[in-house]
Amino acid sequence: MDDPFIRHKYMGLFLVFFTLIFFPTYLVWEVYLRQPQAVEELRVQRENKGISLFAQYCVTCHGKLGEGFIAPPLNREEIRTAEAEDLYKVISRGRGAMPAWLREEGGALDSEDIRSLIAFIQADPPRWAEVAGAIPTPTPCPEGQFCPTPTPEPPAVAGRRIFNSVCAVCHAFDGEGDIGPRLQDNEFVQSLTDEGLYAFLQVGRPDLGMPAWEGKFTDEEFSWIIAFLRSLQPQ
Ligand code: HEC
Ligand code: HEC
Repeated sequence: MDDPFIRHKYMGLFLVFFTLIFFPTYLVWEVYLRQPQAVEELRVQRENKGISLFAQYCVTCHGKLGEGFIAPPLNREEIRTAEAEDLYKVISRGRGAMPAWLREEGGALDSEDIRSLIAFIQADPPRWAEVAGAIPTPTPCPEGQFCPTPTPEPPAVAGRRIFNSVCAVCHAFDGEGDIGPRLQDNEFVQSLTDEGLYAFLQVGRPDLGMPAWEGKFTDEEFSWIIAFLRSLQPQ
């Protein structure tokens, strides 16, 4: 058994087995089964990440179903089949009233985030219906705890909720001011009556980056927003 010739023979047989059978089988498994599965998993992971980013950053302007709101709809076939590089450019650098999102351009996202958003926007089959469920709820009732039914919100509180989800992308939370002016202690707001503010919000100043809001809210919602803007002024 210790005959070196026999040992080499076993070794040789093993090498033949390895090269002729095991290795090709492994290659077939790797290339045809494991890699596509890994690629598929990566794709789904990216889309999932894109869904939560979209719910967090994009729904205020493009709508929960990508159906468009103050910004164009994104659930169009034309966008789904667009060159990913073109979408990457618009999302990173912004265009017109569309903010720039890439960190290097002053935004909040890195390039992997933007790739994930594109994977989701172009997902086939489309996954728009999943966005609504991914929108972060501010104060969910903890499981197993008693949460009283909320009493109807005072107008300024209802207005604040709308403001912080729709207007804050430009005016910052509670109107602290960002790319849109500070609305706290704001002379323009103070100079107008409620009717004047209502009229201003209808038409906006699209040429200066303030969208027109006509038709985007009910009159009751406008009255809440106005009550909230008033609450930001010194009494
Ligand atoms: C403050 C509002 C606003 C937000 C928030 C916003 N967008 Fe936009 N977006 C726009 C506007 C307005 C346009 C149209 C720009 C133009 O004039 O061409 C646009 C255009 C686009 C386009 C190009 C559409 C086309 O028809 O070519 C893409 C893609 C897009 N946005 C993706 C996103 C993504 C992804 C996010 C979230 C990270 C986002 N947007 C957040 C306002 C917004
Ligand atoms: C896409 C960015 C954007 C969004 C979203 C936006 N605004 Fe503005 N807003 C602006 C800009 C820019 C101006 C300044 C326009 C100008 O120079 O006259 C402005 C001006 C205003 C002014 C006048 C303030 C002043 O000092 O001139 C009010 C009031 C106002 N916005 C309220 C709102 C409300 C309420 C909402 C949400 C319903 C909203 N804005 C959403 C960008 C935005």
